[in-house]
Amino acid sequence: MEPTRTAGSSHDRHQHRVEHIAALRRHIAAHPAQALSADEQHDLLHMREEEKIARDVYVQLGERWGLRPFLNISGAEQAHMDAIATLLEHYGLPDPVPDLPVGVFATPAFQALHDSLVAQGLRSEREAIQVGLHIEELDIADLAQARGRAQQPEIVAVYDDLERGSRNHLRAFYRHLQRLGDRYVAQHMAQAAFDAVAQSPHETC
Ligand SMILES: [Fe+2]
Repeated sequence: MEPTRTAGSSHDRHQHRVEHIAALRRHIAAHPAQALSADEQHDLLHMREEEKIARDVYVQLGERWGLRPFLNISGAEQAHMDAIATLLEHYGLPDPVPDLPVGVFATPAFQALHDSLVAQGLRSEREAIQVGLHIEELDIADLAQARGRAQQPEIVAVYDDLERGSRNHLRAFYRHLQRLGDRYVAQHMAQAAFDAVAQSPHETC
């Protein structure tokens, strides 16, 4: 795949994502499902709902502010949700958020997090970008922890893929933050690690 595709039109991005997910599905299907540890199971269920937070919040803030990062990235978050769903299916785990509409969560803590992030992001464009950065650094921190506990190579591959996507999302929000002349204080990553990701170039897959 040409590395320039992710920076192309929304049609190109969509096509790239479709091909990427198809390749991921083939990779997962090629490995027989092994028994997962309790940590691996818990982390998959957790990450499925956390990716839904990202998608649902970006859909709503994109509608409110019409800002390109939200509109572009909500589609990628759908792909992240799909990638975790493929793993849940592969390992015979129940989907914690089957057919739940945008803004509705199975776990009370996720519902509360979603509600507070949407309320913050609806206050202003500046707050919306803060919310985007908050979600991405949370996602990166949680994916890194889950990856450290994962033993199955397919799970590790998906977490690596999602973490790279999240780093690119963080960079996109950070560019917007700089245009606004704003700053961001990291809450889930060490500030130095956040800055290193934010100020490094876009990664291609
Ligand atoms: Fe993301």
